Amino acid sequence: MTAPGQNMKVDGDRLWDSLMEMAKIGPGVAGGNNRQTVTDADGEGRALFQSWCEAAGCTMGLDQMGNMFARREGTDPDALPVYVGSHLDTQPTGGKYDGVLGVLGGLEIIRTLNDLDIRTRHPIVVTNWTNEEGTRFAPAMLSSGVFAGVHTQDWAYAREDAQGKSFGDELERIGWKGSEEVGARKMKAFFELHIEQGPILEAEGKDIGVVTHGQGLSWTQVTVTGKDSHTGSTPMPMRKNAGLGMARILESVDEIAWSHKPHAVGAAGHIEVHPNSRNVIPGKAIFTVDFRSPDLAVIEDMEARLRDAAQKICDDMGLEVAFEKVGGFDPVEFDETCVAAVRNAAERLGYSHMNLISGAGHDACWINRVAPTAMVMCPCVDGLSHNEAEEISKAWAAAGAEVLLHAVVETAEVTEG
Ligand code: GLV
Ligand code: MN
Ligand code: MN
Repeated sequence: MTAPGQNMKVDGDRLWDSLMEMAKIGPGVAGGNNRQTVTDADGEGRALFQSWCEAAGCTMGLDQMGNMFARREGTDPDALPVYVGSHLDTQPTGGKYDGVLGVLGGLEIIRTLNDLDIRTRHPIVVTNWTNEEGTRFAPAMLSSGVFAGVHTQDWAYAREDAQGKSFGDELERIGWKGSEEVGARKMKAFFELHIEQGPILEAEGKDIGVVTHGQGLSWTQVTVTGKDSHTGSTPMPMRKNAGLGMARILESVDEIAWSHKPHAVGAAGHIEVHPNSRNVIPGKAIFTVDFRSPDLAVIEDMEARLRDAAQKICDDMGLEVAFEKVGGFDPVEFDETCVAAVRNAAERLGYSHMNLISGAGHDACWINRVAPTAMVMCPCVDGLSHNEAEEISKAWAAAGAEVLLHAVVETAEVTEG
């Protein structure tokens, strides 16, 4: 017997066209996107998403963190909704698919169910989580974190960008601060479709990643303070070069991560030297060390060794050093039933699949604390992400959305007739 909805296919061309349309907003400089969170471009992207959701018959909810919730009603008014989604914000030199695929893949599910006139018992809600990337305002996954009760809203509002603008003020300025209480919604389940952002699926020739775990993350912002002075006339023994202190600390970051190979990574992607003038020895260096591992003990070891190594380097050089933890989450194990729904969907649809541990952080990592959660991944070319050249194929996107559709429909329960 064919269960209702068993032969459902998404419209891969429509999904692709929507991805390309969204990518026109906040274009980058090399074919990707710069649609950073709570900028004017973010506001424009949100408005486009809202118009598409409303055209598909959804109602839009907006909470006080700017999280968007497009709802397709179910047949049972008391049934908890099944949520899907990801994020529309991008890195400053981001790709067209990181996050966006999960949001527009969710919309494609709604459009497909509408086309096929399929009703589900549970409502389906497509979410755009605000500030997943954490580039402009640390930490990453800020608003799903508030939703899950990990951060307070006031703390989140007070986060500042490099220009000293606060997240709360900027959210208000772009007109996307809603009135709904954050985290009040209850979910039957949450599913996030995302590109892998790593090379495994492509190398293994698999269509679908069934994400069982997410690795944990730690962001430590380090401030090294020395003394600004003339690069030409300050004798070498008299220098307090914060830039050199930073360079030595970064060497140790690399060594610490390698010492836990192959299950740890470490780097500093955010680096500032002050005053950043060619002929001034930097008096201050500020940078954020990003350590990740699927093993919490490894993350804790790397954090502790960073502090020890940096303290020693700075003491030896006569520099001051200070540390601030600006982001972090523990390794995540996703919900068994939701993970099985993703695996079953891939199986039923005839897509090759394998289990994956997500290397990147995702809103799903926080939502997993408050609802049964799982993720679907599709390959990306050369595993490249957080780069404007990030690429996927239309077929990969469609396969990911189709698996998402089937996992969601199984969870939201198709009603007969
Ligand atoms: C989020 O994009 C992360 O840093 O993994
Ligand atoms: Mn992402
Ligand atoms: Mn990202």
